[in-house]
Amino acid sequence: MASEIIKQKINSKEEEEAAKVEIWKYVHGFTPMAVVKCAIELRIPDILENHKTPMTLAKLASEIGCPQPSLHRIMRFLIHQKVFQETPAGYAQTAVSRLLTSHAKNSMADLVLLGTNPVILAPWHKLSGWVLGNKDLPFDAAHGTDLWGFGAANPELSKLFNDGMACDARVGVAAIVEGCPEVFEGLTTVVDVGGGNGTAIRGVVEAFPWIKGINFDLPHVVSAAPASTGVEHVGGSMFDLVPKADAAYLMKVLHDWADEECIEILKKCKEAIPQDTGKVIVVDIIIGGEEDDDLKGVGLLCDMAMMILTRLMFTT
Ligand SMILES: C[S@@+](CC[C@H](N)C(=O)[O-])C[C@H]1O[C@@H](n2cnc3c(N)ncnc32)[C@H](O)[C@@H]1O
Repeated sequence: MASEIIKQKINSKEEEEAAKVEIWKYVHGFTPMAVVKCAIELRIPDILENHKTPMTLAKLASEIGCPQPSLHRIMRFLIHQKVFQETPAGYAQTAVSRLLTSHAKNSMADLVLLGTNPVILAPWHKLSGWVLGNKDLPFDAAHGTDLWGFGAANPELSKLFNDGMACDARVGVAAIVEGCPEVFEGLTTVVDVGGGNGTAIRGVVEAFPWIKGINFDLPHVVSAAPASTGVEHVGGSMFDLVPKADAAYLMKVLHDWADEECIEILKKCKEAIPQDTGKVIVVDIIIGGEEDDDLKGVGLLCDMAMMILTRLMFTT
């Protein structure tokens, strides 16, 4: 009996120690995000990639043009986080840091720069107010306007947002054209509704060159979108009129809106496509996978981000 009580005490002591370690991770939960942003701003992934072979601290510091001591601490942290690795010959890239280079095909650097931008971070401080019933979304409460209105008035943030979205669109559309090419069979025109800077529809047109693509988004978004062969940029609001096409493609758009607004968007899409053969193609994020699955964790993180930015939640 006495030994059982002692064992329980030891267990609860160990549990408490482990819990304290967990809490320290929350105390400094922002740190990994901020230090990865710092590495991107210092162009460390690009410098290591261009160098081709591992770099010593002295060489990396001279390439960046910074003193060694702070850089050493940054690299020590990011090596512990497995963002970079240390080899006998010096610092080297990992699969993670390669995704943080600026020109890699699957680069996610712009997405990190978007998520760590002060404009996107400010609404997190309004989250509890929103849960308690404040009428303004956290983003709106922090900035006095919604995400799209803020983007219209702030071209720099709008570009950051669209470049960030494009990171994911590149990967998403590549998976779709490879995994479900039959979806595009028989189509000669596709309108990407809320297509951002046109990355996704460009991917569709490159894969199926007989398709004429229309990138449809708010006027301030399409006016800054790069020109692309086979893609016409059209500005407007999907709540007013969607340009006519054989199919309407909605990627990561419906999750931004409440049910009534989604119905309005889908009605406009229906009006834009042929009544007998038309298609609406919806691509969106869902929360799936097992409880301890990393992907499920990412889905839940995205759901929290949607809670501060827009009206809807991800579904399962
Ligand atoms: C989450 S982003 C998705 C962008 C792109 N489809 C992708 O997958 O990367 C949502 C897009 O909807 C656009 N949007 C918001 N309101 C809109 C409206 N009323 N009409 C057309 N597009 C709109 C935004 O400008 C933004 O580009």
